[in-house]
Amino acid sequence: MMSASDDEDTVVLRIVRCEPGGDPTAVEYTVPRRRSWSILDALQHIKDRIDPTLSFRGSCRMGICGSCGVKADGTPVLACGTFLRDARGPLVIEPLDHFPVERDLIVGVDDALGSLTQLQTYLRPATPARPGDPPRRQTPAQLRAYRHYSMCINCMLCYSACPQYGLDDFLGPAALALAQRYNLDSRDAGSAVRLERAGARDGVWRCTVVGTCTEVCPAKVQPATAIQQLKVASATHGIRPLVSRGRAPLADASTSSASDDTGPSSAPASERRRDHRAMGRLWWTRQRSYRRYMIRESTALLTAAYAVFLLYMAVLLCAGGLPIEARVERATRALVSPGALLLHAIALPFLALHAFSWLRIAPLLLSSGHSRAWVVAMWAAPVLAAVAVVAGALS
Ligand code: SF4
Ligand code: FES
Repeated sequence: MMSASDDEDTVVLRIVRCEPGGDPTAVEYTVPRRRSWSILDALQHIKDRIDPTLSFRGSCRMGICGSCGVKADGTPVLACGTFLRDARGPLVIEPLDHFPVERDLIVGVDDALGSLTQLQTYLRPATPARPGDPPRRQTPAQLRAYRHYSMCINCMLCYSACPQYGLDDFLGPAALALAQRYNLDSRDAGSAVRLERAGARDGVWRCTVVGTCTEVCPAKVQPATAIQQLKVASATHGIRPLVSRGRAPLADASTSSASDDTGPSSAPASERRRDHRAMGRLWWTRQRSYRRYMIRESTALLTAAYAVFLLYMAVLLCAGGLPIEARVERATRALVSPGALLLHAIALPFLALHAFSWLRIAPLLLSSGHSRAWVVAMWAAPVLAAVAVVAGALS
């Protein structure tokens, strides 16, 4: 029930509209700021009362169908799950990034759906099910192993948030998360085929751990975690045939074990459709999480430079020809030289930032089942190490 005070305020929606083949144009609409209204309600209000030509998608209005994805103030969101009451100033509504715009806020997601097909995101049992077969039971633990990955609603927000998907050929977060969902299913026997596809040029190794896919996911699927798990699985999948003599290569085993499969085969990367919207050179300035990512990546350069410096110290300590006392004195002199002191001073904040940014992203990369203990351990280890170093230096 709406109260009279709900109508007192208004909010401006600046909607980036686009006709097929035309240039994007921002059009402003003023709508009531009703506490109970989501962006989807406001879009429907505009269509019903102000401009019937506005085009957008939406269906269930409750975060289940995944059809109402848009960008609101630069962040991919579900229009039905984002409320006007949280808007500050004009709310900029745009179509999801990367996908071709069909009209206004409607984008074509064929490429992402093609990734699902290529990764065979469906159950591939070892033997075909026949009428009268007993049900294939699972224990609660077996269900827990993949359940959160099966919550994906195919809203494509993670694709829109992933810069790698926009910049390069990449199968994308949701499809890879769903591949991992079936790989972890105790009833499935098709993981080798999926790992072959996931390990290809446009697969998991394209992921540079930006982490925004997990941040924007409305269903808490954690695609970033799934991709890191798939990287490990893909690497061991490649190594296993080399170390297990006398066994058939995994790819062959997979095709025979799932010989009942009648689904489409994996298309090579070169056949993928590329009709993405261009990212632009300054793509990383668009979102705070992208900026954080770029800072983390740039601090890696100084981290590497400092590692080279420490290597140089090790060489000074170990290089022969001098007694150990002379070598220690030489290394200590180099360590406290004015240039080295400057390097320490510059490197320290960058190294701290680098470590902090990785620790910050850790919860996004760890499976929800046991993330808390892992995160505590990951934070505790460097803090204890730093305390030990400081205590050692002071004693
Ligand atoms: S993984 Fe999350 S963000 Fe990506 S499509 Fe599925 S529900 Fe949407
Ligand atoms: S309308 Fe179904 S998820 Fe938003």
